[in-house]
Amino acid sequence: MPKRIAILGSTGSIGRQTLAVVEAFPGDIEVVGLACGHDGPALLAQAARYRPQVIALAQGRVDAGHLSPGPAVFSGPDALTRVAAWPGLDLVVVAVSGLAGLAPTLAALGRGIDVALANKETMVAAGDLVMAAAKGGGRILPVDSEHSALWQCLEGRRSEDVRVVILTASGGPFRTLPPADLEGVDARAACVNPNWSMGRKISVDSATLMNKGLEVIEARWLFGLDYDRLQVVVHPESVVHAMVGLCDGTFLACLSRPDMRLPIQYALFYPERKTGCLPVLDPGQMGRLSFEPPDLARFPCLELAWEAGRRGFTFPCVLNAANEVAVERFLAGELKFTDIPRLVSRVLAKHLPLKEPGLETVLTADRWARTLAGQLAGQMGRGA
Ligand SMILES: NC(=O)c1ccc[n+]([C@@H]2O[C@H](COP(=O)([O-])OP(=O)(O)OC[C@H]3O[C@@H](n4cnc5c(N)ncnc54)[C@H](OP(=O)(O)O)[C@@H]3O)[C@@H](O)[C@H]2O)c1
Repeated sequence: MPKRIAILGSTGSIGRQTLAVVEAFPGDIEVVGLACGHDGPALLAQAARYRPQVIALAQGRVDAGHLSPGPAVFSGPDALTRVAAWPGLDLVVVAVSGLAGLAPTLAALGRGIDVALANKETMVAAGDLVMAAAKGGGRILPVDSEHSALWQCLEGRRSEDVRVVILTASGGPFRTLPPADLEGVDARAACVNPNWSMGRKISVDSATLMNKGLEVIEARWLFGLDYDRLQVVVHPESVVHAMVGLCDGTFLACLSRPDMRLPIQYALFYPERKTGCLPVLDPGQMGRLSFEPPDLARFPCLELAWEAGRRGFTFPCVLNAANEVAVERFLAGELKFTDIPRLVSRVLAKHLPLKEPGLETVLTADRWARTLAGQLAGQMGRGA
């Protein structure tokens, strides 16, 4: 029987790569649901090719009347959640960007359905809720390359044997740029990652190193680690995705070519390990691998994320929301690259944490942070 999956964010970078993996294993996976934000034409083209039972467009409307048999069509804010709750699914791939992934992730896990999670913002904003929902039977299968690597290194290990967990970062496109030049970089330059081809939001996060900060918080929840055991190392070649240091001084590392189709494939078929159809890393051709500490003065977002994670409560949610607004404004040309950490820091400084656990608390903190970030961004854009 093929595995029955839905892909949320199917028109994006991870969504399309997931469909490429599906195509590489004909007959093994049935695409039952597809969903995205606003790209109706791309969604319809995918629906024509993969013949899902259900499609959803969160921001707009699509007419699938020309498809036969026609899929069920949902639109609007709860459209993705309705796809995640579609009957008979084995797995939901959550590959949307931003907090839009939270409700469908909770919906799938709440029904005992496995979630292949690429969407890190959901774990950052509501890690406790997501981990609690996963106690109902659905598993969280990490897709982020670093977390997939950690998952593989940590599986079967006793927590007390783990001394340190290291996430690697490419360092982004501005790793060696003189700090004074950072102020003038534009969205086009920020979206070019040296090793990975990704959506615009995560590309900017990689350039500010916020991406690595979000991943630290994600790892804290996924693997139940305290922040003292988490570390970030810049590794420009992106061949080693993560390392685990054991108590006796041994290190385990997970290496592969920087290609997201491999962690996607691992999550889709887990616990089976498939003979891949991707080009394989040749250690003899790897050349020099280098590692260096991150430059926290040049990239303050990493420290901001670490601090928000340590402070807990609604601070990580507010960090994420303020960052989403800041990146959006930067991509629209309204803020400078160096305004991103400034804006996030100013919103965090004004936050009084909400301590009542629950979804409403997360959504309230998220709304508060977006409103304030929007106001502050307007002032900063005018040079305040
Ligand atoms: N790309 C990578 O290599 C990579 C690696 C690790 C983790 N991730 C994580 O995976 C997630 C997706 O990244 P990506 O690079 O694939 O992003 P992307 O290329 O920008 O794609 C985002 C997808 O989410 C959909 N979407 C965005 N906002 C939405 C909303 N409010 N409601 C419904 N759908 C929405 C988009 O639909 P439309 O385009 O139709 O609007 C698109 O299908 C992010 O959380 C990212 O951090 C990505």
